[in-house]
Order: sequence, then C-alpha cells, then structure tokens
Amino acid sequence: MIEASVRVRIWDLPTRLFHWLLAALVVFSFTTGKLGGDWLEWHFRSGYTILSLLVFRLLWGFTGSHYARFVNFLPSPSRTWRTLRSQESEVTRVSAGHSDIGTLSVYALLTVLAVQATIGPFTNDGSFTEGPWVKFISSATSNRLSTLHYYNRWLVVALTALHVAAIAFYLLARREDLITPMLTGDKLGLSAPAAEDGTTIRLRAAALAALAGGIVFYLVTL
Ligand code: HEM
Repeated sequence: MIEASVRVRIWDLPTRLFHWLLAALVVFSFTTGKLGGDWLEWHFRSGYTILSLLVFRLLWGFTGSHYARFVNFLPSPSRTWRTLRSQESEVTRVSAGHSDIGTLSVYALLTVLAVQATIGPFTNDGSFTEGPWVKFISSATSNRLSTLHYYNRWLVVALTALHVAAIAFYLLARREDLITPMLTGDKLGLSAPAAEDGTTIRLRAAALAALAGGIVFYLVTL
C-alpha cells in the first residue's frame, strides 16, 4: 500500500516555468494579435519568446529530467482511448509523469504552437507591419502564410480548450488533481522514481534557455 502523504518530485522547475510562461504568453499573444496596431510590436516579442520556449522544450525533451523526456511520454491513442472508457471514476488513481490523455494534448499543442510561431515572422498585417522574414519570400506567399497564421490561431484556441477540458476531466471524473503538481512539482501517494530537480539540472536548463533564446534572436534579426 502506498502512503497518500508520500511526495515525489515529478515536474522539474524548468518544465513548470516553461509551462506557465508558455500559457501566459499564448493568452498575451492572442490578445495583442487581436488588438493589432501598436500592440503588434508586443505580439512579435511575445511570439519570439514562445518560439524560444519551444526550442528550449525540444532540447529539454532530450536532456531534461526523467518525466520531461519525450521518450518517457510517447503518445498512444489506444491507451488514451482505454483510459477514457475505463470505469474508474470512483477510484483515486495517480499517474507518474504525463497522464494518458494529457500526452496526446501536449504533443498536439506543441506542434500547433510551433507551426503558429514559425509562420509568424513570415506574415504581414496588410498595411505597415510585417515580420522579419517577409523579405525572404514573395508577397503572395507572405499573404498566404498570413491567412494560415490567422486561421491556425483558432486551432491553438481549440486545442488549449481541449487541454484544459482534459485536466478538468481528470479532476472531476477521475479525482486526480494534475494542476497542483504542475505548480509545486510534486505528486502525492505515488510509488515512482523522483525526477532530478537540483542545482545542476537547473543550471543546465538555464544554459539551454539562453541557447534557445540566442538562436531565435539570431534568426529574427537576420
Ligand atoms: C488554466 C490553464 C491551464 C492549466 C490548468 C494547465 C494545466 C496543465 C497540466 C496539469 C499539465 C500536465 C498534464 C499531464 O499531467 O499530463 C499541463 C501540461 C502542459 N500544458 Fe497546460 N495548463 C493550462 C494552460 C495551458 C496553455 C494555455 C498552454 C499552451 C497553449 C498549455 C500547454 C501545456 C503544455 C505544452 C504541457 C506539457 C508540459 C511539458 O511537458 O512541457 N497549457 N498543463
């Protein structure tokens, strides 16, 4: 029997910071994109930061702590389907790392956000503002990418809503709180190896974040 009070570190600090910064910036980008005008300058900055975060997460997926590594949460639609159909609503069930449903939404969100943030610098607003990579393509292509950027944001919104709905499903139907661990890093009542989250790994994350930011800065100032 596993004691409910046992605390196990699941999400390292870099993953948690990545998550909440990304969530805040996605909301900020959506708002500033909708406001347009002078706000587009902030929309660009926010988009570059999101791009840097995504490059960081890609690197972290290979070099981060146990549960942050891609190899430890490979997507499985059949497992997700089994979880959705299982009748465990009365049972308290705690999963280490990403939940089965969460895994799919994480990959979908990261992919759609990567598409959105990469297209951004190729777009124009039809008047005075254009991204730094518009000069590398024809204006017809830039217009097409601007349309794609416009519609893809609704996919971002839909997947974010699905993501939050999946978290709510776990809370209400499965009695599993996934939100607190994403804040504190720890899950309770779990028999699983703890994720590394000390100074060494945090310094490694800081170096990778600086590298990711540097790469994006270099590319958007070409
Ligand atoms: C109230 C808002 C949100 C809550 C409560 C929330 C909560 C969570 C939780 C609990 C997880 C872990 C899921 C699991 O255990 O499998 C997670 C992961 C994740 N969420 Fe959210 N989330 C929110 C908003 C967002 C937004 C706006 C985005 C981006 C559009 C986002 C992107 C992600 C990503 C990419 C991961 C995977 C983290 C990683 O492995 O690096 N989340 N979220």
